[in-house]
Amino acid sequence: MKVLAILYNGFNAAVKEPRLLGTVENKLGIDKWLASRGHEFIVSLVSFRWYLEFSFDAEVVITTPFHPGYLTRELMEKAKNLKICITAGVGSDHIDLNAAVDHKIQVLEVTGSNVVSVAEHVVMNILTLVRNFVPAHEMIERGDWQVSDIARNAFDLEGKVVGTIGAGRIGYRVLQRLVPFDCKEHLYYDYAKLPVEREQAIKARRVEDIEEFVSQCDVVTVNAPLHEGTRGLINEKLLSKFKPGAWLVNTARGAICDTDAVAAALKSGQLRGYAGDVWNVQPAPKDHPWRTMKNPLGGGNGMTPHYSGTTLDAQARYAAGTKSILENYFEGREQEPANVIVGHGAWATKAYGQR
Ligand code: NAI
Repeated sequence: MKVLAILYNGFNAAVKEPRLLGTVENKLGIDKWLASRGHEFIVSLVSFRWYLEFSFDAEVVITTPFHPGYLTRELMEKAKNLKICITAGVGSDHIDLNAAVDHKIQVLEVTGSNVVSVAEHVVMNILTLVRNFVPAHEMIERGDWQVSDIARNAFDLEGKVVGTIGAGRIGYRVLQRLVPFDCKEHLYYDYAKLPVEREQAIKARRVEDIEEFVSQCDVVTVNAPLHEGTRGLINEKLLSKFKPGAWLVNTARGAICDTDAVAAALKSGQLRGYAGDVWNVQPAPKDHPWRTMKNPLGGGNGMTPHYSGTTLDAQARYAAGTKSILENYFEGREQEPANVIVGHGAWATKAYGQR
């Protein structure tokens, strides 16, 4: 069987650190295993070459969300042998999922593999913004020491209202991790209501109207997949309903937020800060406004490249999960239901929008 993996170059870091499994160099740690089973394994960079490889005859394609190979409807039409796409990680929006349904191509991801990694990153991002960390560190690197310039925009998280858009595996874990911070309230906006005991365990209250939800939050964190119902959800109109000076953290997907509207809201001070690691195009172009956008006091930007879900711990889990999905596929065994996003010609998850 021909298996194609679209990974990214880890260069020297990947040579020195074999646990960087998601790289072209370390091949998810499955190359020898696949070869021993007689499979042809092609590892390609996200580049023109992969389009050539792809339009060829692979039956299995593995991609990652961090440096994604975008699987369009057009590519699926060319890939006559393609039966299964595996996302090494969580979040398969780089695959045209409706086209996968139409072409009866299964899409699976390693559900849960990096949800703790992201939840920890979200908590870090919230604290980074609320406590005004980045300008403080930059000041130290510059050799300056002007405490008032930092303290005038630094707050405690205690007593603030924090809300998550999406209270699935990550959103839930974020609120769970915030319980000891004694926030004023934990809110969530999700069409899937949590059972009462689960709500109580994380002190969460559901708000059904999104404008009402954002108007109550000091901090909004986005933890929903990207789909038709979330693309551009946080736009100029919704941002105008946020509490003035709110903080927004998005580690879900960049395209859930309107790029220019976020940059403008930060510039005007309507948002006091924006942080996250996901971008509407990845890798983000050098002149992407989110790289350098700032609030009126020159801070409020906590952006990084997409790495929250690809810590070394997470890579071990999603590489193992990818192998297990492949094993099930080769043996004709049923897949873990939670990993299946698109089954044989039908959606298998309720998390990618209400259908
Ligand atoms: P999950 O499937 O456990 O939870 C998603 C939740 O979002 C569900 O409860 C669903 O009902 C809700 N939802 C869907 N559409 C919604 C909408 N329109 N409004 C409100 N809620 C909505 O998924 P999980 O594991 O929590 O991951 C969420 C997303 O986080 C992934 O789809 C992925 O895009 C992103 N992610 C980012 C990573 C990173 O490295 N930055 C790594 C892992 C995931």
